[in-house]
Amino acid sequence: MTSLLGLLQTSKKKEGILGKYREIAFRKFLIGSVYGECIMAHEKPWWQRTSIYQIYPRSYRDSNGDGIGDIPGIIEKLDYIHDMGFETIWISPFYASPQEDWGYDVSGYRDIAPEYGSLRDVEHLINEVHRRGMKVLFDLVLNHTSIQHPWFTESCSGRDNPKSDWYIWRDGAGANRPPNNWKAIPGGSGWHFHPGRGQWYYASFLPFQPDLNYRNLAVKDEMFKVVKYWLDKGVDGFRLDIFHAIYKADHFKNNPFHWSFMPKDDKYGYFTEWKYTISQPETIGLAHELRKLLDSYSPQRFMIGEIFGEDKLIRQYLGDNAEGMHAIFLWKMMDYRFQASFFWDVLNHYETWYPAPFQPVLVLGNHDSRRWIDRIAGSFQKAKLISLLQLTARGIPVVYYGEEIGLPEGELPAKNALDPVGRRYSWIPKWLLDVLGIYTNRDNCRTPMVWSDSPQGGFTEENADPWLPLSADPRSANVAAQADQPNSLLNWYKSVLNLRQNSSALRDGSLILLSRQLAQNGLLGFFRQSKDEKIGVLINFSNRPVEVDLKASRILLQTGTASLSGSKVNLASLSCAVIEMLDS
Ligand code: GLC
Ligand code: CA
Repeated sequence: MTSLLGLLQTSKKKEGILGKYREIAFRKFLIGSVYGECIMAHEKPWWQRTSIYQIYPRSYRDSNGDGIGDIPGIIEKLDYIHDMGFETIWISPFYASPQEDWGYDVSGYRDIAPEYGSLRDVEHLINEVHRRGMKVLFDLVLNHTSIQHPWFTESCSGRDNPKSDWYIWRDGAGANRPPNNWKAIPGGSGWHFHPGRGQWYYASFLPFQPDLNYRNLAVKDEMFKVVKYWLDKGVDGFRLDIFHAIYKADHFKNNPFHWSFMPKDDKYGYFTEWKYTISQPETIGLAHELRKLLDSYSPQRFMIGEIFGEDKLIRQYLGDNAEGMHAIFLWKMMDYRFQASFFWDVLNHYETWYPAPFQPVLVLGNHDSRRWIDRIAGSFQKAKLISLLQLTARGIPVVYYGEEIGLPEGELPAKNALDPVGRRYSWIPKWLLDVLGIYTNRDNCRTPMVWSDSPQGGFTEENADPWLPLSADPRSANVAAQADQPNSLLNWYKSVLNLRQNSSALRDGSLILLSRQLAQNGLLGFFRQSKDEKIGVLINFSNRPVEVDLKASRILLQTGTASLSGSKVNLASLSCAVIEMLDS
């Protein structure tokens, strides 16, 4: 860990240098405006240069003391997010829903769940985001509705109602036998018998989330209208939930056998290859169609897909000329090892498969995965190194709420989990899930945001009952305390994001990795280079000090102990630095 003295020195240097840096950036901006270069500086679309902050609305901030986070609560915290330096917010679903999967089971795409607020609140949120010069993405669940959506109720009512074909209905293969061997993504058959209709419906996820039938053009048309409805309200785009599942093959043949039971390569699992249930050609076509729709709007809109698959497939969704889905989550960092060589390999892989104009999406955590600070035993220092990498490598960083304060993973038992996936698998012992590397009880990554050290962490009123308990004593990580400590994790995010905002190299530049040899010795290094700037990022993951000769001119930002001697950079163990290069 860094010494106290080191920390103090870091903070002073950081402020001074960053202040200076901002001044230069401002001067450049002024000159730019005068000579019309401002436009040049922004020739890349906003979404390629942005940084995204994900909010799980139920857990962010409860404005009325009912223990449930809500839209007015998010509005209250917009200044916090803006001051930190994020430019875009993605909000998990807040539409009408019976909340069996906490909003990923929609029962009204144009309605707002009353516990989150009203349509007026949502419109107000969009305005407030825009007033701060930021963008907002809504979460769109196109693949399935809730079983309680009126469309499904109607569809169930018989075989000849106007919505009878809105979902995927089939006759069984025999008494009590589903139509074919198609499995759901979280396991088990994807087919569920409906006694009223006497047929089976298909659900890619859980039984209460029936898949819509996009082969019925009325369904597709309606969902496009939903997209337009929100675009017309001014939303800047969408995060698209399990997009790769949207079409299923229309011949309904069995998926081929595959030897792996455990889900593998996003393609196999439960002894089948998911050949006919995910990423059908029509699904890829749909991404391109949606892009055309979004492109017809001004200012520019954006979509980011939750899609799993091999890189070759992801590239098809993105389109040969980047004319398909704008961006797609890339998952390689989620299971990171705290090793320079691990991250070197990932960045190298992303550069190989997603060179400009493609923009990799750099994500470490979300509402479905273990909080990533857990993998480094809660070390804030290590978290600083990883977040630097995430926020300065080429790509769109997506940060999940709480990561910026090192919010810990909860330890809630699966038995009575509120998460349906956690509950479903609560019979499997936790140690076994851990050995298999499977994360099921998502309650633990969805615990309330902690704003202060008060009993409910400032998430809700002190005597209120939060929907999920806090993951830890609020004194261990909270916004108020960290805002006051110059060297806190929160202030680190702020400094890095500020640097990023003011640097054309960090936002738009190419990425050049230093050698893998260095990474094998614990040092991850890369340059970011734009037309008028070259910046180096050096991260020492190892337990030893390292020295590297880089033609460095000065350190712009650092944590731990970093120094320059001549043009050489010295980094103590678990230290990192952002460096301005002599040849920039
Ligand atoms: C996505 C969401 C997850 C949800 C599932 C079903 O994976 O991220 O939270 O449970 O889709 O909609
Ligand atoms: Ca509330």
